[in-house]
Amino acid sequence: MPQIEAKAAFTLPKLPYDAGSLEPVISARTISFHYGKHHAGYVNTLNKLVDGTAFAGMSLEQIVVQASGKPAVRPIFNSAAQAWNHEFYWQGMRAGGGGEPTGRLKSAIERDFGTFGDFREGFAKAATGKFGSGWVWLVEETNGTLKIVATDDADTPLAHRQKPLLTLDVWEHAYYLDVQNRRPDYIAGWLEKLVDWRSAERLLG
Ligand code: FE2
Repeated sequence: MPQIEAKAAFTLPKLPYDAGSLEPVISARTISFHYGKHHAGYVNTLNKLVDGTAFAGMSLEQIVVQASGKPAVRPIFNSAAQAWNHEFYWQGMRAGGGGEPTGRLKSAIERDFGTFGDFREGFAKAATGKFGSGWVWLVEETNGTLKIVATDDADTPLAHRQKPLLTLDVWEHAYYLDVQNRRPDYIAGWLEKLVDWRSAERLLG
């Protein structure tokens, strides 16, 4: 007789560091809301929305890909993509990060953007200029080329056959408690002190 396995609901992944470790760029207070309320909220909503549907039992990645571009399941796409995007964002930062990449990633960035300075300027410009809520990413295209892309709202490169290497959350909830309307300060702080280049290099194909 086949055994019926209970399908595990999604859970909020543990942060890879203490809530205060990203200070002063990102305060423990911001983490308490951003991780503890926003990210947790996306996970909880997703669990409610997929219950009893064909998406129950799928991975976050599968849900993102299969629900993308389908208006009837837009709320499921939004919750799954936001759950995935946030987990990826937390993993791409560390205390004592920032600076410049090394090794293969440095070579790939120089190949596709010119100098690291050119990349940094392009990324900061995309993040500053992103209108409304969304994300800015360093992605690897299927042909191996690196590219800076901005996505609206919950949208994610996973839904567009691009491999994310790094992301910066530019929704206001990511920085408003710390720097209010000064989004460029948050972007500069992330680049100078938080971005984990080693994490991005590990993902490089
Ligand atoms: Fe966020």
